[in-house]
Amino acid sequence: MRLDVVTIFPEYLEPLRVALLGKAIDKGLISVGVHNLRDWTHDVHKAVDDAPYGGGPGMVMKPTVWGPALDDVLAGPDGETDPDVLLVVPTPAGRRFDQATAQRWSKEKRIVFACGRYEGIDQRVFDDAARRVRVEEVSIGDYVLIGGEVAVLVMVEAVVRLLPGVLGNQASHQEDSFSDGLLEGPSYTRPAVWRDLEVPPVLLSGDHGKVARWRHEQSLERTRERRPDLLPSDD
Ligand code: ADE
Repeated sequence: MRLDVVTIFPEYLEPLRVALLGKAIDKGLISVGVHNLRDWTHDVHKAVDDAPYGGGPGMVMKPTVWGPALDDVLAGPDGETDPDVLLVVPTPAGRRFDQATAQRWSKEKRIVFACGRYEGIDQRVFDDAARRVRVEEVSIGDYVLIGGEVAVLVMVEAVVRLLPGVLGNQASHQEDSFSDGLLEGPSYTRPAVWRDLEVPPVLLSGDHGKVARWRHEQSLERTRERRPDLLPSDD
């Protein structure tokens, strides 16, 4: 999978190169390009934003900078727009990013992320891009970040860990919270007693059927308590 990020803060994306993501790059499972939006400015100030039409606070990022940047980054080897690219725009005004989105994106060949700052990016940038590629505006949660960079780190991590060969144990993401619609229950390791606290005896029983049933009950209980919105309603 090829991932590209366009941002005015390339250094914000450096964590993409550490730990599991760095290993995925080393193994050739993903390749990552981070591009500085200011490379597409033409003025001495390298301005990327301007006052909003209609007034109001903040600044809006300029289509005349974003347009050429995306033309270049969305291009395939022949210099024409690669029709297989998915363009992702992190924004608090987007549709919610969730585990199902991560699963769906993990099948993509190429994803380009366009990170906005300030009050966002001129809408015509995406209206124009949508004439050539699929565009998804997504939010990672109901809170407002300063920009899209941290959201990109979150989404890339959620997607890349699903790629075959990235996690050591392939089964481990099949048991994730959300993959069966429930939260994952508690986990324990040795010692069996620690600071007077015992590991639930069923986990030491060796009875795999009993363990699986107990884990499912724990998942249900935790979901009921913490995230009742994930359960089907009674009526
Ligand atoms: N940019 C600012 N806030 C965001 C959010 N909640 N999700 C995605 N991108 C954002």
